[in-house]
Amino acid sequence: MKTQPDDSTRIIDLRALQIRSMQADDPARLAAAFADMNKTRAQYEHYWQENVEGSRVTLIALLAGSVVGYTNVIWKSDYEPFRQRGIPEIHDMNTVTSLRRSGIGTRMLKAAERLVQQTGRCVIGIGVGVTRDYAIAQRLYPKQGYVPDGTGVHPNAWGGCMYAVKQLHDEIREA
Ligand SMILES: CC(C)(COP(=O)(O)OP(=O)(O)OC[C@H]1O[C@@H](n2cnc3c(N)ncnc32)[C@H](O)[C@@H]1OP(=O)(O)O)[C@@H](O)C(=O)NCCC(=O)NCCS
Repeated sequence: MKTQPDDSTRIIDLRALQIRSMQADDPARLAAAFADMNKTRAQYEHYWQENVEGSRVTLIALLAGSVVGYTNVIWKSDYEPFRQRGIPEIHDMNTVTSLRRSGIGTRMLKAAERLVQQTGRCVIGIGVGVTRDYAIAQRLYPKQGYVPDGTGVHPNAWGGCMYAVKQLHDEIREA
């Protein structure tokens, strides 16, 4: 746990944080938890379908039984350089607004990395928006060892995206 929070951090007991893979009743819970971000239940139903099909693993973070975050691993990225090299992508990661900067995102990243490592792969990729809306992610990913792949900014509907990769080492298993 962080011991010296500033005004924008909250202390939570990360030992109580549970991260598990998605279940059938999660789409409604996710839509409720992220309603303030205009996320729709339809999007999460789509994720559930892809979990069932095996193309995506959605990881759900829970605190005292409440959904506080989620992320996904997609095995075949839409980003061609990742797809060609067989690099799974961490895709769509969110922590509930009130609990950001408490360590939940870091834990979700590590859970996604462990999942990928368990399949024998040693590289994982991620995309991050380049606008201020993604400020926390832009700082977090390099701190966690994600290095830009050097291809610059890729235009998209949200102001552009950059991609980064991380080499997975044995210590992630212990994290
Ligand atoms: C990006 C996002 C998923 C990260 O999740 P998070 O739970 O906020 O991440 P963390 O708390 O682990 O890390 C964020 C910051 O908190 C700090 N932190 C980590 N553990 C902490 C703790 N125990 N106590 C306080 N701060 C902590 C990290 O060092 C990091 O600090 P920084 O902002 O100074 O770099 C989340 O902020 C979010 O949903 N953002 C909006 C959507 C978004 O941008 N998604 C990513 C799309 S690419």
